[in-house]
Amino acid sequence: IKTDALNSAHHLMVGGVDTLTLAKTYQTPLYVYDTGAIRAEIAAFKQVFEENHVNYQISYASKAFATVAMYQLIAQEHIHCDVVSGGELYTAQQADFPMAAVSFHGNNKSLAELTMALDAGVGTIVVDNFDELSQLTTLTAQRQQLTTIMLRIAPGISAHTHDYISTGQADSKFGFDLNSGQADQAIRAAQAAPYLKLVGIHCHIGSQIFELNGFEMIVDKLVSEFARWQRELDFYPQIMNVGGGFGVKYTAEDHPLQPTDFVDAIVKETLAQTAAHQVPMLEIWIEPGRSLVAAAGTTLYTIGDEKDIPGIRKYLSVDGGMGDNIRPALYQAKYEAVLAKDPTLPAEQVASIAGKYCESGDMLIWNQQLPATKAGDVLAVLDTGAYGYSMASNYNRNPRPAVVFCEQGHSQLVVQRESYADLTRLDLPLSVPEKTK
Ligand code: LLP
Repeated sequence: IKTDALNSAHHLMVGGVDTLTLAKTYQTPLYVYDTGAIRAEIAAFKQVFEENHVNYQISYASKAFATVAMYQLIAQEHIHCDVVSGGELYTAQQADFPMAAVSFHGNNKSLAELTMALDAGVGTIVVDNFDELSQLTTLTAQRQQLTTIMLRIAPGISAHTHDYISTGQADSKFGFDLNSGQADQAIRAAQAAPYLKLVGIHCHIGSQIFELNGFEMIVDKLVSEFARWQRELDFYPQIMNVGGGFGVKYTAEDHPLQPTDFVDAIVKETLAQTAAHQVPMLEIWIEPGRSLVAAAGTTLYTIGDEKDIPGIRKYLSVDGGMGDNIRPALYQAKYEAVLAKDPTLPAEQVASIAGKYCESGDMLIWNQQLPATKAGDVLAVLDTGAYGYSMASNYNRNPRPAVVFCEQGHSQLVVQRESYADLTRLDLPLSVPEKTK
């Protein structure tokens, strides 16, 4: 905990707002974001590109955290975003996000979603497979609508991360396989499509990556393929999109590089490789999701019941859990928690933080050192800004928490807490058969 994140009473602050006040005002569980921290991460990425004097684009992977206010914040910072579904696209539209700055991803975009994207005028469609390529070729020709695309390729390089979030290996559901000639075939097909304008190549090797190595390997491989394509296919991309995946620190055990270190390495490797292959420098696009929002988010819970099993374990239960943060249950993800009323108090207990859901796997944190606690204390789980709210569910018919943005001492509700009425809003009563009436 940085000392500037505490006020004079030692309460944990987020964006200059006292978390105890936030818990009282908006209730718990509650997602709170320090939006200044998101802006600072974006600025840091911009700065590395600027220092290296290269053409670039930062495209926020909005799956990490998407709400109307978030798309508006991204628009204020003048960067792009990517969407992976009609629902994310719709939310961006509701936020008046500039559609030319949107990339549309997905391995099974429906005809309705492709049509929606063309109607909206999204800037780039990232084509994933041959079926999509032919569907889009037909659709754009029917509509006589020139459409900018990139091709997503699977480079056959895997990142060292959890299997579920590793995507670059050859055996992946995403993208055209690079090593079996599928990518070459896709380029030829795109070149032949009258209304498709192929501007770039995309790849994304995984998420929560801690080593530079994987990114340097994909740059080496891509640039050498690009040089071959220039010779053999008369195609050289304007844009190389290397995806996201820059790892962040969740606990003291994590020692990630700065996200900007990844970008610096990617840029330098691209400069070196394009020079070595005597091909033009590329415009570099990145798609950070987690690294823009994870550290900016905190989840506030209220501690409720406890269970102390002598010689075994102490459980502290909170009023949320796997419905607002599925990551510990799904990926064995680790988090750290502090007591919001004073994160500097010395530890007096080791407790495991349990959620309120009817499932033994609903554990947010195992064996957390904490000061003495009592029911009613506010517990802050740190670094929950990525893939928390965006993966939230109504399991056990628990309403999803509200989301509050905090900046420069002001808080603002940006997603309302769900009510019980919201839970049954789409339910329809069982119709009674005629004869039993
Ligand atoms: N670009 C593409 C094409 C992606 O598939 C992803 C993430 C990103 C960018 C952003 O990756 P990031 O910078 O956030 O690591 N639910 C999982 C993460 C799934 C990531 C899926 N794709 C989790 O909670 O860890």
